[in-house]
Amino acid sequence: MKNTATFTKMKKEGEKIAMLTAYDYPSAKIAEEAGMDIILVGDSLGMVVLGYDSTVKVTVEDMIHHGKAARRGAQDTFLVVDMPFASFHGDIDRTLQTAVRIFQETGAEALKLEGADEVTDVTRLLTRTGIPVVAHLGLLPQTAGVLGGFKVQGKTADAAKKLIEDAKACEAAGAFMLVLECIPYQLAKEVTEAVSIPVIGIGAGSETDGQVLVYHDTVKYGSHHLPKFVRSYAEAGDVMKNGLGAYVEDVKSGAFPAEEHRFTMKEEELQQLYG
Ligand code: KIV
Ligand code: NA
Repeated sequence: MKNTATFTKMKKEGEKIAMLTAYDYPSAKIAEEAGMDIILVGDSLGMVVLGYDSTVKVTVEDMIHHGKAARRGAQDTFLVVDMPFASFHGDIDRTLQTAVRIFQETGAEALKLEGADEVTDVTRLLTRTGIPVVAHLGLLPQTAGVLGGFKVQGKTADAAKKLIEDAKACEAAGAFMLVLECIPYQLAKEVTEAVSIPVIGIGAGSETDGQVLVYHDTVKYGSHHLPKFVRSYAEAGDVMKNGLGAYVEDVKSGAFPAEEHRFTMKEEELQQLYG
């Protein structure tokens, strides 16, 4: 099992980090078998597997439920679980209790938190408590309502300066890793050089220390609209639809089940049955 130090070393040695979301037993198992360095139980699960139109409806219970399933599927892969919408704002004692619950119940190696500013206080507290924290800057889907949608962030010099400062503040607060979402590649490169913790990009160009994508986008499974920054590597949805369509046909035609799928009662038992 890799650990936080492994990723720091990978950054130093220039070995790229491959990260993918997964939300249940089979997806986590397949991600682990494919050699993923990190599996993220992202709150994107709200949109990807629960069918919500944003991540704000995702609850702590949802994260624990899916986190546990992913853990069972990938016992040997570094697992990160998102703290969901509004679960780490306001009362700090409640935040700590919530973080400890998610961390202990899922058995994850780390938690991820969107944002800087007051969130860096949470990062400091969790880190001191012994919970490794992944910071998340740039586009913060949990605040899409405030931002007015899912937009590229850090495009102006001022916004870029603020993001670089935020990244340094996250590192200073103890975050061992940083996710950058949907920012210009030049800024992502700058941030990656400005901090010594590994930086993982999504929609942030190729010059970060690693990449993260959403599982269902990566294999095109039930995701209709792919963002510009995604490359999909398989047509899982089509493969499944074709397979399921063939099953329907076979049931209708009687081609399934065949002889090899059925169970047989012995002749003597049959005779007793019919007298
Ligand atoms: O929830 C998620 O999938 C994420 C990644 C996009 C980084 O936070
Ligand atoms: Na997320």
